[in-house]
Amino acid sequence: MHKVFATAPGKVNLALRVGPPRTDSFHPLDTVFEAVDVYESVSATFDRSEISVTMSGKGQDLPTDEQNLAVKAAMALRASFGGSDGVHLEIDKRIPVAGGMAGGSADAAATLVACNELWELEASADELLEIAASIGSDVPFALMGGLAHGVGRGERLVPINADVHHYWVMITAPDGLSTPAVFGEFDQIMGYRPVPEALVPDTRDLQRALAAGNTSEIASLLINDLEEPAFSLRPGLRALYKAVKSRGMAAILSGSGPTVAVLAESKGAADQLAKELATEHPDAGILRANGPVAGARVTEVI
Ligand code: C5P
Repeated sequence: MHKVFATAPGKVNLALRVGPPRTDSFHPLDTVFEAVDVYESVSATFDRSEISVTMSGKGQDLPTDEQNLAVKAAMALRASFGGSDGVHLEIDKRIPVAGGMAGGSADAAATLVACNELWELEASADELLEIAASIGSDVPFALMGGLAHGVGRGERLVPINADVHHYWVMITAPDGLSTPAVFGEFDQIMGYRPVPEALVPDTRDLQRALAAGNTSEIASLLINDLEEPAFSLRPGLRALYKAVKSRGMAAILSGSGPTVAVLAESKGAADQLAKELATEHPDAGILRANGPVAGARVTEVI
């Protein structure tokens, strides 16, 4: 086997409830993830020993050293199996960088499934999830896809089975927001200091609405505790959010932002809204996205 192609989806959090920081400085979350059909594509070419990456699309300015989440993923996978094979990764990024849609996590997840195939490791789904969690909080969900309830720092997942289809319009910003900075601002606003253990508001109502497939109830339950801190760091974002909120069934900041996701009533309504917003906000990138979709998968082996 010489070359493996894989993809992984971006995400939006339908609900993102955040508690005070833990003593390891991560925040305990209660969240519902939905994978959306904006994909990162990774090709993995066998190398005798080196692990390297080149980025195209939206990722041209990203580091290509060990800070790159895809490189981290390949190294962690190789280390956990004690191998010595290498890989050259080529990543075509479609998910906005630092946009709150877990694009870097999708790179890592696609890399894990690609290298597992390329190096013939036969890692189980659970082994891959464990390695994924060591790379970043959102990487396990990028592997799993679909809809999932996440707790811990977002890495402990239970899939949610629901027959729902969501049509989104994502309004992306040219400049990303730093996730640690948004969590830091959250602590500032709430007056939080690290604590050993804390309760986090739960997302049971939303999970019930998903199971019942009730889209208007789902729309009314979208919530993100990181909205205020993101708006505080980027005041223009609040105005944009307010302006687009009434254009669909509901709107929500995606993860730690600055992407704003508008939930539309139908595919037709979403297509129409995407066209209108592209004209009204020429500086923002408008993405049409549908969810939920499957997680990271190998698409071709040469
Ligand atoms: O897990 P990941 O590396 O993606 O997290 C990036 C940063 O986001 C962390 O270093 C932390 O500052 C913040 N974070 C957090 N609580 C979480 C997830 C992320 O504070 N549950």
